[in-house]
Amino acid sequence: MTAVTTLLTAIAGIGRDARSGGYVRPVFSTAERDLRSWFLAEAAQRGLDVEVDRNGILWAWWGLAGPDAVVTGSHLDSVPGGGAFDGPLGVAAAFGAVDVLRERGFTPARPLAIAVFPEEEGSRFGVACLGSRLLTGALSPDAARTLTDRDGNTLADVFAAGGIDPRWIGPDPETLARIGVFVELHVEQGRGLIDFARPFAVAESILGHGRFKVSVRGEGNHAGTTLMADRRDPVVAAAAMVGAIAEVAGAIDDARATVGRFEPVPGGTNVIASSVDFWIDARHPDDAVTRRMMADIDRMCGDIAAARGCEAVLVEESWSPTVGFDPTLAGRLGAALADAPHLRTGAGHDAGILASAVPTGMLFVRNPSGISHSPEEYVTDADADASAAALADALQELLS
Ligand code: GLV
Ligand code: MN
Ligand code: MN
Repeated sequence: MTAVTTLLTAIAGIGRDARSGGYVRPVFSTAERDLRSWFLAEAAQRGLDVEVDRNGILWAWWGLAGPDAVVTGSHLDSVPGGGAFDGPLGVAAAFGAVDVLRERGFTPARPLAIAVFPEEEGSRFGVACLGSRLLTGALSPDAARTLTDRDGNTLADVFAAGGIDPRWIGPDPETLARIGVFVELHVEQGRGLIDFARPFAVAESILGHGRFKVSVRGEGNHAGTTLMADRRDPVVAAAAMVGAIAEVAGAIDDARATVGRFEPVPGGTNVIASSVDFWIDARHPDDAVTRRMMADIDRMCGDIAAARGCEAVLVEESWSPTVGFDPTLAGRLGAALADAPHLRTGAGHDAGILASAVPTGMLFVRNPSGISHSPEEYVTDADADASAAALADALQELLS
């Protein structure tokens, strides 16, 4: 078996920011395309046939493509400044698991595929799990084609440059019908497994979450000639909103709300901005609570904007309901992994989107730092290598 650590070391330099040590691998950037090339090479080395479907999802097949295939895999794109394991661990462990199964002399009775889903993080086009949403029909192709990145490039143009004809993106029932079961292995993104003192867990549920954009419009003006009383400064209004959002979420048991992106326009030291865009990521196990919290935040942003002579508009960019995974499948996975504990996760995954269409499960690998979406995210070499054997055990159970 090629060790998972060896596979990850081979891509450790791709998209790594030398200053922060974090990874910047937006979908179809040079870095993410280099990772796709690495995937093709690793698949070829194992004699797996690779297809790229019309949504840009990569499929490496052991055996003829579908139907009733056991599919594993994850994503290769990252958040800005992400860790080394969020996504790539699941892909590298999948190659390792194929090696382990072959070394065991195991011949699958059904096809096995490793899939890579584009734009899981939504860090380029704002919609989380974009590839799996297109595949399942959870995102309309018309809406997807017009999404734009920070530089104003449309998804249609970026996909076209990546070799995916944007005219054909969208629901793909034939490809979906080939999946008999999907299992995604992923680094645990919080403290869950530290607290259990176990290397692996099985996912029980994914916390629902929404992403929202708030645009605050004021009046651009001169920093020296405009008296404080005469200003309609959207930065001051938006800053008050950010503080109030933290207060609102902090007062609701188990709620989370994050503003991680905040962009004043035009953004000059001696310029009162004319507008500010910022983004809210809101999560709670009960979707109705998230909806109510966002309705309160929407009202509050309107009030704060009005008090400063500004206007605020809040728009939903994506919505992912809370997902409970198939308990029978979770039970089989747990049993195959020496009675691994079951974990609820606060992080989003393509598995959560696919769960609406096919039997789906997830395996988590211990993260001793308890930190993710940061260079501090961590998996020990021993756990990374053991994750291939654990995934092989799970796949063998499903393929038998
Ligand atoms: C992805 O990791 C997310 O939870 O947003
Ligand atoms: Mn991920
Ligand atoms: Mn992530």
